[in-house]
Amino acid sequence: MSILVTGGAGFIGSHFARMLVNQSASGGQTVVLDKLTYAGNMENLREITDDLHKSGYFKFYKGDICNRELVEHVVKEDAVDTIVNFAADSHVDRSIMDAGAFIDTDMKGVYVLLEVARNQGAKKFIQISTDEVYGAIPEGSFKETDPINPRNPYAASKAGGDRLAYSYWVTYGVPVIITRACNNYGTNQYPEKLVPLFITNAIENKKLPLYGDGMQVRDWLHVKDHCEAIDFLIRHGKNGEVYNISANNEHTNIETTHLILDELKKPHSLIEHVLDREGHDRRYSLDSTKIRQLGWQPKIKYEEGIRSTVRWYLKNEDWWRKIKSGEFLEYYKRQYEHRMVSKSAK
Ligand code: NAD
Ligand code: DAU
Repeated sequence: MSILVTGGAGFIGSHFARMLVNQSASGGQTVVLDKLTYAGNMENLREITDDLHKSGYFKFYKGDICNRELVEHVVKEDAVDTIVNFAADSHVDRSIMDAGAFIDTDMKGVYVLLEVARNQGAKKFIQISTDEVYGAIPEGSFKETDPINPRNPYAASKAGGDRLAYSYWVTYGVPVIITRACNNYGTNQYPEKLVPLFITNAIENKKLPLYGDGMQVRDWLHVKDHCEAIDFLIRHGKNGEVYNISANNEHTNIETTHLILDELKKPHSLIEHVLDREGHDRRYSLDSTKIRQLGWQPKIKYEEGIRSTVRWYLKNEDWWRKIKSGEFLEYYKRQYEHRMVSKSAK
């Protein structure tokens, strides 16, 4: 197989690329295409690039999935037969500030990849979607057959990509599989998301800005379990189908925050309840029976996964301190200054 991993310098994509390269003794090729936006980081691929002589075939292209000529070139040059599309603008809060890049990458970019897959006769196209396309659910869990109801600009643009991919299966027979996973956590996650932001803020003895009452529920999946599920679906998934991927690890945000602080032996007084996210989805929950019946299941327990993630951020200060400067500080100010000032405790 020659697999194109778009967004392979980001959080999940880089874990997936590493996993593929480690498996590639059997002769597989791993090709990464990434625009290196603020969230893309070549450091995430260092284990591969430093070790190229030992690892299997690996190639990196810097570029935009919206650039059709480039995508066509990459697919032809490396005889790509499988595309796994992780490339996305992926942070809900940024989409609320400005949805533009989300519409471009998460919708138009998917269109370009699908067109190239169609014209080049790709054997498999995995569209990495998200549980956010279903919207919030007060109780019970969403099945793949439930209607979608995205409620923020990120979720809506991902829903566009998700349904466009499906339409290319129905209309042109492009062998598409769509995955919808819940919240991922693990090493190398850009520190704008809850888990890495709170770990690194706590290490720095800075406040942890918890939105609203902190009772929102997320289901947490370790990134390695997620990558194994995607690999599993390349082999065992059925074309034209949607698969939910979840760990049944539902926790309120305040529970997750306490776990992080306790692991770091930091006081709970670092928590600051701040103005809530606009249109904040209260609870996500997925029923992942469909993929589990095929034979996949997550392996990493939540408490252990959080513990090892905390340890990684403690050991890899260089990685995140470089990120938490410059553009990040401007973003942090824009995102949090008004929330902190107009704090609405509960
Ligand atoms: P991320 O923001 O860490 O990484 C995204 C990567 O895509 C970055 O390397 C970035 O440079 C690249 N990229 C952005 N725009 C691009 C473009 N136009 N062309 C090429 N590359 C581009 O995101 P992540 O958390 O690793 O998420 C990866 C995928 O998984 C996304 O599609 C996201 O919607 C989906 N997802 C994420 C989660 C989660 O909890 N993180 C859960 C479910 C689904
Ligand atoms: O559910 C899957 C989605 O999970 C993915 O599709 C997205 O790409 C990914 O970013 C993530 O979205 P969330 O919005 O759930 O993740 P985030 O880490 O931003 O927030 C998790 C929860 O924590 C959410 O309820 C908002 C809350 N939160 C987040 C931040 C950044 C806070 O209370 N304070 C914060 O500062």
